[in-house]
Amino acid sequence: MAHSVAVIVGSLRKESFSLKIAKAFAKIAPPSLKFDIVTLEGLSFFNQDLEATPPADWVAFRERIQKSDAVLFVTPEYNRSTSGVLKNAIDVGSRPYGKSSFLGKPTGIIANSPGALGGVAAAMHLKSILPGISGPIMQQPEIYLNGVGDAFDDKGNLTKEALEKVMKAYIDAFAAWVERLQK
Ligand SMILES: Cc1cc2nc3c(=O)[nH]c(=O)nc-3n(C[C@H](O)[C@H](O)[C@H](O)COP(=O)(O)O)c2cc1C
Repeated sequence: MAHSVAVIVGSLRKESFSLKIAKAFAKIAPPSLKFDIVTLEGLSFFNQDLEATPPADWVAFRERIQKSDAVLFVTPEYNRSTSGVLKNAIDVGSRPYGKSSFLGKPTGIIANSPGALGGVAAAMHLKSILPGISGPIMQQPEIYLNGVGDAFDDKGNLTKEALEKVMKAYIDAFAAWVERLQK
């Protein structure tokens, strides 16, 4: 049976490389993974005052995560960390206290950047934020996609073979790992 994966995209930009990467993963993933690409437009700021009567957009986001079998974060790197919108989404999903929507879900972290380091600092920050509120985080293989700025054609198709190769290896490993954990 296929496993559903909520793929959370950490950039709001229309031409976001993170979004293009999420879509490229959906194309190359094995059939055992069913992707739900979750973009974060319209997700309001977390405000603890609203916890008793959460806004509809928080509830919808949490439910979407809860009904997935696994989670992938596709993060850009902003100032050596993840983006603010992704951190906000994690805060929203992590509440109510003790009932994080991410709990128990096998989790993967995919960092990217047009720069040389592939967003490794963003991934490291996510690795320190998530453990208390997520499920197990896949440790190997790691993936830091660098040089993504010229990796897509004008229709958003991935054209850089070197990237596609590591992405395919990553998503196949993720699928096998999710399968093992679900047993
Ligand atoms: C506020 C800001 C901070 C950034 N900081 C970094 C950084 O620390 N490291 C990096 O590799 N790229 C950095 N960048 C460049 C982003 O990697 C680049 O804008 C990328 O396209 C953003 O991801 P997206 O294409 O998914 O929107 C930064 C961009 C912005 C707007």
